[in-house]
Amino acid sequence: MPPFSTTTLLTILTLLILTTLATPSPPLPYAIFLLRAFGPLSPLQLLARHHLLTLHLPARTLAPPSLARTHTFASFLADFALGAIDVLIIPGGARARSPDLGPEVDFIRRVVGAGQVGHLVTICTGSGVAAQAGVLDGRRVTTNRGAWATVGAVGPAVKWVAPACWAVDGNIWSPSGVSAGLDLIFAFIKGKYPDGPALATKFSGLIEYQPNTNSSHDPWSGYFNIPTPNQL
Ligand SMILES: *[C@@H]1O[C@H](CO)[C@@H](O)[C@H](O)[C@H]1NC(C)=O
Repeated sequence: MPPFSTTTLLTILTLLILTTLATPSPPLPYAIFLLRAFGPLSPLQLLARHHLLTLHLPARTLAPPSLARTHTFASFLADFALGAIDVLIIPGGARARSPDLGPEVDFIRRVVGAGQVGHLVTICTGSGVAAQAGVLDGRRVTTNRGAWATVGAVGPAVKWVAPACWAVDGNIWSPSGVSAGLDLIFAFIKGKYPDGPALATKFSGLIEYQPNTNSSHDPWSGYFNIPTPNQL
């Protein structure tokens, strides 16, 4: 497997930013994509300087806009044995609410299936996509407060948790909204690497972000009047 390359990620980021700047009206999906995918990825990019990390970005096709995609779902399934992926991250965003997610849902069902990934990390409304694959049934998961009702509707068998900045149920890690995804990634790094606490402190300074370290801290459940039958 190719090593996770910080240069590649930086190049992708630069290209995305340049594309955004070159477009007359700011393309909102790019802004969402950058934040949702690359916000939580930046601590991982830093982590790659300290620990061997490989990153693959599968999508249904490699068609544009596909700067960040490394595999189609089919080539990914051909290249990797089930069980080979340690961390699968499912971002959310506008596309996560599309009615046309058949290939994504099938892919998640196949890759996650019966405990075939080490960890499943959903970001924001990505939990709604994972829920449609049935891989969150019976698990304690949280999601974006503003999308609570729509995401809940596609995952009636999921134990949706609130209030929570993020929830962990075994190998399933889920933040509430997208910014909480960054807090979760810091908690993940802290919890999963022996030098994680020191690295988290270091990365926090490098990206000038002070993560919330309290998974119970959730001002948004009250703001959105979220029901709380399943608490942390
Ligand atoms: C974590 O947040 C909860 C909810 O806001 C609060 O009650 C609790 O005191 C906080 N814990 C710490 C250690 O700050």
